[in-house]
Amino acid sequence: MSFIVGVRNFLLKILYRIARPIIFLMDPEDAHYMFKKVGVFLGSNPITRSITSLLFNYEHKSLNTTVDGIEYRNPVGLSAGFDKDGELTSIYPSIGFGLAELGSFTGEVCPGNPGKRLFRMVKSKSILVWYGLNNQGAEKISSRLRGTNFGKLRVGINAAKSNITPEFDLQDSIDDYVKTMQLFKDIGDYYTINISCPNTQDGEPFVDKNNLDALLIAVNQNRVDGRPIYVKLAADLELDEINTIVDCCVAHKVDGVVLTNLAKPSHNQEFIKQELPYHKGAMSGLPLQRISTNVIRHVYRRTRGELTIIGVGGVFSAKDAYEKITSGASLLHMITTMIFDGPQNINEINRGLVKLLQEDGFKSIAEAVGSRNPLPKQKHEPASEEVKNVA
Ligand SMILES: Cc1cc2nc3c(=O)[nH]c(=O)nc-3n(C[C@H](O)[C@H](O)[C@H](O)COP(=O)(O)O)c2cc1C
Repeated sequence: MSFIVGVRNFLLKILYRIARPIIFLMDPEDAHYMFKKVGVFLGSNPITRSITSLLFNYEHKSLNTTVDGIEYRNPVGLSAGFDKDGELTSIYPSIGFGLAELGSFTGEVCPGNPGKRLFRMVKSKSILVWYGLNNQGAEKISSRLRGTNFGKLRVGINAAKSNITPEFDLQDSIDDYVKTMQLFKDIGDYYTINISCPNTQDGEPFVDKNNLDALLIAVNQNRVDGRPIYVKLAADLELDEINTIVDCCVAHKVDGVVLTNLAKPSHNQEFIKQELPYHKGAMSGLPLQRISTNVIRHVYRRTRGELTIIGVGGVFSAKDAYEKITSGASLLHMITTMIFDGPQNINEINRGLVKLLQEDGFKSIAEAVGSRNPLPKQKHEPASEEVKNVA
């Protein structure tokens, strides 16, 4: 069966390779809009859903995983930013996703930044994003999604602060997140609190510990039973800043972190400099791959696995996905691989993960989490010499 799926994926990959130069002639934002329209159509009725499923889906029981009490059919998820208005949930299971993070949604309607705001960097395998949180706003989107049965898809609600003013006001900002949380209190399976959009007018004020403390207190007051809360971090933080944020998350009993958001070119050496198309925005894909994995490794060790990690950034293959899992990630998000490699790559990654698990003798994703990132000894743990002496 896996062989047949492999042949199917290979053929689809060739087809996408042929189509890609034509797709890449389109303006990137127009292409994004067109693919969303196609997705809405394919998800609109059982016939197109079944055909899509036949072409793109893949199931294997070793991919089933339970994280923070939520059962996922596989750990491969769509990252926030592709489905900014939550319009495509009916088609994701047929494409092979185990989860999809919708949004970012903001408390107020948000037009996003003006002008051209999406750019391809083909040689760097990256998208430069200058969207600025464009979405229809939490009220409209939640009223459309309320009562939707997402079936086997697990759904994350990504809440960000409205990008409509350059002035930062702490209480207004917290109210904005809380508004989205309350409107989505009976929609979806987990929340992500996005404190790391690189394209907002007032920067990233929740890197500050006092601001983050205040936000997480409010978030906790609006918790929904059985619904984990994750915080999404930026890619360009100093080590001290990462430590402050994750320690704060542990202190406030947040369930986990999403690592990481887009990479700012000014803080990044992992792309072809001549290819940078615009002086604003931040990069997805390959320039982020190594950095996000390093952050995952660090956070997993610092928190000793106490925080769930959703790994995101430059996952293009099962090997990339497995590296993030064995570094400490329990779930994965991705976007850029769909643009560069095609949608069949989602199930190809899942198929490859099954093989990699088997090669390492693991029966489940959970067994592989952090397996190549051994935790340091705790200070109060007796060293092995001491243990020997006692014996
Ligand atoms: C077009 C685009 C829009 C994005 N918008 C958001 C967003 O609204 N909220 C968010 O948390 N992340 C957003 N991101 C970041 C992604 O969720 C993800 O962290 C990043 O793209 C790295 O994953 P990738 O390399 O697989 O694309 C966006 C990324 C892209 C490419």
